[in-house]
Amino acid sequence: MSTPPPATTSRFNEEAASWDSNPFVQAATTMAHKTYLSRLPPPETLSQYNILDLGCGTGLLTFLLAPSVRSVTAVDVSEGMIDVLNTKLNALPPPHNVLGVHALLSDPDDPILSFDPVTGDSFPQRRFDLVVSHLVLHHIPSLPPVFANIFGLLKEGGRVMVTDFEDFGPEARRFHPESKMEGVERHGIKRDEIRRILEEAGFKDVKVETAFEMEKAVETTPGSGETGGDLMTFPFLVCEGTK
Ligand SMILES: C[S@@+](CC[C@H](N)C(=O)[O-])C[C@H]1O[C@@H](n2cnc3c(N)ncnc32)[C@H](O)[C@@H]1O
Repeated sequence: MSTPPPATTSRFNEEAASWDSNPFVQAATTMAHKTYLSRLPPPETLSQYNILDLGCGTGLLTFLLAPSVRSVTAVDVSEGMIDVLNTKLNALPPPHNVLGVHALLSDPDDPILSFDPVTGDSFPQRRFDLVVSHLVLHHIPSLPPVFANIFGLLKEGGRVMVTDFEDFGPEARRFHPESKMEGVERHGIKRDEIRRILEEAGFKDVKVETAFEMEKAVETTPGSGETGGDLMTFPFLVCEGTK
């Protein structure tokens, strides 16, 4: 996977402690969770799934999905984010089915992924039923290696399901205030581009669809730091494919 600029990692390390107090982030995660559940198999099948949450942050989506699946391996390149996830995990009564992993993945066979979050046993070349990722792609400099890696991480028949805001044109830039552009590699994801990247990675049954829309306070004038009550609607895409 392409290495994020150090500024991206330090930004998320700094934001980790306050990440969960952002109501927009919480609401977007709730919407993403509903999107995933509406597209995944029924509970008797889903409860057998071992999933990987790529760019899990503090685990907002991880902890929503965990009760529905067998296990979640929650991976993030920011140590600060994983520390917050682990603090939340350790406050929960055992048994746990979540494992926080601080890593930048570039190899599906990375031994750091070999541990079963439920038993702690290590299985070399462990593979997953599902890889999810929410609000992460716009922070990644080059997407093709990420989806090639995700393809390698899945079992035959496994699925990828990712959500992020859509790059619907120049106005999509207003999703972030100008002061928060550090680590923003693109202003959302482009439908045609992401479809092509998934197909070129080898995925079948690729779907790229609007999942939901969210209103967000945006700067009145870019760079002013003032929102003045201005709201904009941002579409979010769900992008999925099967190995
Ligand atoms: C906007 S946050 C979203 C966090 C979480 N998914 C959520 O919705 O609350 C983006 C996260 O992606 C992580 N990230 C960025 N590039 C990454 C990469 N290449 N591999 C793993 N994590 C990455 C960042 O460290 C950060 O925690």
